[in-house]
Amino acid sequence: MSTTAQLRPFHDIPGPKGHALAGLLPDFNADPLGFLTRGFQEHGDLVAYRFGPRKGPLGKTILAVYHPDLVHQLLMDTERTFGRDTDGFRATHELVGRGLMTTEGPYWRRRRHILQPLFTPKRVARYTELMAGEAERIIAEHEQFEGTEIDLHQAMMRYSLRVVGRALFGGDLDDAEAELHTLIPDANRGIMARTTQIPKLPLKFPSPTNRMFVRTRDALYDLIERVIERSGSGDTASSEDNIVSRLREARDPESDEPLTEQEVRNEALLLFMAGHETTAMGLTFGLHQIGRHGDVQKGIAAEIDAHHAAGGTGAEYAQNRDTLGRAALNEGLRLFPSVHMTERVANEDLELNGYHVPKGTSVFLVPWVTHRHPEFWPDPERFDPDRFVGKQADRPRYAYFPFGGGPRVCIGEHFALLASSILMEALLRKYEITSHDEQISMKVLNSIRPDRDVRTTFTRR
Ligand code: HEM
Repeated sequence: MSTTAQLRPFHDIPGPKGHALAGLLPDFNADPLGFLTRGFQEHGDLVAYRFGPRKGPLGKTILAVYHPDLVHQLLMDTERTFGRDTDGFRATHELVGRGLMTTEGPYWRRRRHILQPLFTPKRVARYTELMAGEAERIIAEHEQFEGTEIDLHQAMMRYSLRVVGRALFGGDLDDAEAELHTLIPDANRGIMARTTQIPKLPLKFPSPTNRMFVRTRDALYDLIERVIERSGSGDTASSEDNIVSRLREARDPESDEPLTEQEVRNEALLLFMAGHETTAMGLTFGLHQIGRHGDVQKGIAAEIDAHHAAGGTGAEYAQNRDTLGRAALNEGLRLFPSVHMTERVANEDLELNGYHVPKGTSVFLVPWVTHRHPEFWPDPERFDPDRFVGKQADRPRYAYFPFGGGPRVCIGEHFALLASSILMEALLRKYEITSHDEQISMKVLNSIRPDRDVRTTFTRR
């Protein structure tokens, strides 16, 4: 770090003034995306937000970085500088336990070492057939609704549940779907409530939030343990080739010990929680945009037809990263990044954009806002997949980061993009899709999701 004398002081970082007592938390809770967007528009690339009372120990100043270069600094620096021990990660840890996503340091490195080989593009390509089968299945289930309105969100949640469930556990989770339908939103609400709880009450304190949190956690553990037990019993079609069985065979690179059943459960639950909804949301928002933009849709359909006419398979089309279809999915994730924000904490005094930032300061990274930064995204609200076609040399690396970046980059990126491309290809090959709502009405928790039906019609081409 440059000497503190050369740096501007922390309290000079621009930002909105909050209410004397409540700070900015009520504004943030009312509309997180609008709140963060206004912060950027009014105060620039680095903004200080005061949460809780303006004065006194209960208040807390949190920064947000919006410029790609600052995002780069946060994601690429080692955890000695920026760590993950934030309220959000602690709440996730309380819910899903110790695992890849909720740890740091040597434990995280050892887990990443075990899990990374299971998510390389080559390894993930092994799931192509499984994904294609599930894409056909979900489309077949909707055939009877052809020409009528369906809820795209529900269909994509079901597809993603099956694909992620089968890759993880070897069997589908169809019988757990109804239970998960309430457990997952409860889990997300619980994480948000614990994250923003001021003051933090120990989990054993029986407040309504804590009781709901513990109930949800226990039910999730119970469900995942049941599913894991079944996946090891050999009575599912692909029980030998799934992520849970690979975890069971894995050995800790340091101790050479196998993972305990509890460690396997934690990783499985974490991967499930991290992968299922995010993938479904990417598909829902992406296809919704495609369903609003007939010209884009026609372009993708023509590309798919030409590919098949030349003897290519759907899987080959989906694996190709240089198609208009893939560009449309990328553009969907630009405008609607499933993980709209994440957070780091300064582990030492440091410099950010010329300011002194004391150790312990939390910093938000907000793909939702950076993906609309007008310096890098002209006419930012326009859905335009051409931004991702061909050469994109002019943009800094972190103008776009729906999967994060650096050492903690999303481990499921290739899996999610392949699963999404396969579904899109299978759907658009057969159907024209029409989205009836101009905008998807959203609920924002720890990720973005529709809060009512995403009314869509599939019409045979
Ligand atoms: C469109 C779908 C997805 C999106 C947008 C997404 C987004 C992200 C982002 C932004 C991060 C980094 C968070 C941070 O740095 O603070 C992340 C991490 C992670 N994601 Fe994903 N994700 C998706 C799908 C998946 C899938 C399918 C899986 C697994 C099956 C998965 C598993 C994980 C895990 C385990 C981490 C933590 C990695 C670590 O800390 O080492 N994600 N994801």
